[in-house]
Amino acid sequence: DPRTETETVPGTPGTILVDAIGTLVTNDPALGEGPLGEISDAALVIEDGRVAWAGPRAQAPAADARVDAAGRCVLPGFVDSHSHIVFDGDRSREFAARMSGQPYSAGGIRTTVAATRAASDAELLDGARRFVREANAQGTTTLEVKSGYGLTVEDERRSVEIAARVTDEVTFLGAHVVAPEYADDTGGYVDLVTGPMLDACAPHARWVDVFCERGAFDEEASRRVLTAGIERGLLPRVHGNQLGEGPGVRLAVELEAASVDHCTYLTGEDVDALAQAAQRPEPTVATLLPGVDFSTRQPYPNARALVDAGAIVALASDCNPGSCFTSSLAFCIAVGVRDMGLTPDEAVWAATKGGALALRRTDVGHLAPGARADLTLLDAPNHLYLAYRPGVPQVAAVWKDGEMVAG
Ligand code: NIG
Ligand code: FE
Repeated sequence: DPRTETETVPGTPGTILVDAIGTLVTNDPALGEGPLGEISDAALVIEDGRVAWAGPRAQAPAADARVDAAGRCVLPGFVDSHSHIVFDGDRSREFAARMSGQPYSAGGIRTTVAATRAASDAELLDGARRFVREANAQGTTTLEVKSGYGLTVEDERRSVEIAARVTDEVTFLGAHVVAPEYADDTGGYVDLVTGPMLDACAPHARWVDVFCERGAFDEEASRRVLTAGIERGLLPRVHGNQLGEGPGVRLAVELEAASVDHCTYLTGEDVDALAQAAQRPEPTVATLLPGVDFSTRQPYPNARALVDAGAIVALASDCNPGSCFTSSLAFCIAVGVRDMGLTPDEAVWAATKGGALALRRTDVGHLAPGARADLTLLDAPNHLYLAYRPGVPQVAAVWKDGEMVAG
């Protein structure tokens, strides 16, 4: 597309002017209109991988390269705070069976565990890299990646090491399900996860996660896993309330987790707890995963109720071969709007700034000066088009740390 070619023009060396932006979404209310800090007829300057300036086009400083946005929309790169892309194997038939009436079960995770164990490191790394490129091409510039399809000390260690090759946001999820070798001994498996497995994985990870759900880990086991991770310097996040009401949200709030993910089945108390936790300096975010409820035929979570109560909502993909095989945040935004009660503005915010809060990141998810130059140029005049034109590829170009990674 010739309109995204960079021309060289006189100005500060190493700077890039993204010019003639129809709508710039900054996510900084101080910089523009409304909660998304929108600026019309805007420009943005990139320098040394960061946003150096953002504002009305007429006031833009000179730069030595120029990109013509030609009246299109620029928004922060999506921050996808939940994915499981270190895996091998195929579960398309399981999906098809579900669509003809089979219920989703966490037991399917073991199918991927077997295939992942059988794969080489190179195969797993190639796969992870392919999903990162796929995500980048769809506007995602920050992607959290979990282990959890190894479930032995060695297979979890290599999973977090491979994750660390493709992202800074690595999550140790040895407690995804009980490993098949420990089928009748959950306690023994939790000993392994909180002992040798944590020892092997903690040096490569930032986060510890647990699938706190019937069929996976109960409240007590989940607390053990998270507490052990915290003692090793990892920060907690939780899979909870996916398949039914349960202790996940309560535990996440109690342990000051950065996020509790799924939140499909919430009680009024859960909603209140998340609203309270949103007031803390380090909040617990409710991360909703619309693709999972779509692909498992579960009801959608009530995002409207969460936002109205004052909870912080993020949208993430949960890209994984079982419950949701999409890496498209645009799809998640569209479903979030259509079926979960979010406004288009709220959904775009949830997939950018909301994701950043779920990862406790202040350098991404917004485009104020000083933020990382992680931005997406849409083939559309504004961000509403993400939900307005579902299923249509609209990403024209993507920059991460000021470098073009797609376009
Ligand atoms: O986030 N909930 C647990 N783990 C994944 C599903 C993984 C799978 O089915 O392979 C999830 O939905
Ligand atoms: Fe998940």
